[in-house]
Amino acid sequence: MIDDCKVINLPRVNDPRGNLTFVESGRHVPFEIKRVYYLYDVPGGAERGGHAHKNLRQLIVAMSGSFDVHLDDGRSKKMVHLNRSYNGLFVCPMIWREISNFSSGAVCLVLASNFYDDDDYYRDYAQFQRDVVDSAR
Ligand code: TYD
Repeated sequence: MIDDCKVINLPRVNDPRGNLTFVESGRHVPFEIKRVYYLYDVPGGAERGGHAHKNLRQLIVAMSGSFDVHLDDGRSKKMVHLNRSYNGLFVCPMIWREISNFSSGAVCLVLASNFYDDDDYYRDYAQFQRDVVDSAR
C-alpha cells in the first residue's frame, strides 16, 4: 500500500514572469477535491500529522519551503522530502503520516477527497496497527 503513495508531477507553465502550476480535480489527482487546508507559521522543530485516515485520500504539496513526510502502512515505511511546488505527494487511506523538518516559512498545502470528519482519523498508532493486521487476515 505504501507503494501507492507516489509523488505526482503537476503541470507547469514556465514563464519569465513567474511559473504557474494548476491542479484539476479528478484529473491531476486521483480523487475529487472536496477540501483544501494548509499548514503555515510552523515553529522550528515542530511536527504535524501523527495520524492515519480510514478513507481520506490526500495530495500534499510544499507550496513554499520544504519538509519531510514520513509514511508508514503498518508494515513498511518511507520518507519523502518535498521542496517543489509542482510536486504533490499522493497519500492513500490507511497510511500513518508524520511531517517534520519544516524549513523556515514553509507552507504545506493539502488537497483532500472529503470534508473534515473526526471519525475518519486513527490517532492511536497501536489501534491503527491492530486494524492493519486484522484487515490482512
Ligand atoms: P490535524 O488533522 O490533527 O492536523 P495535522 O495532521 O496537520 O497535524 O488537525 C488539527 C486540528 O485542526 C484538529 O483539532 C482538527 C482541526 N481541523 C479542522 O477543523 N478541519 C480540517 O480540515 C483539519 C485538517 C483540521
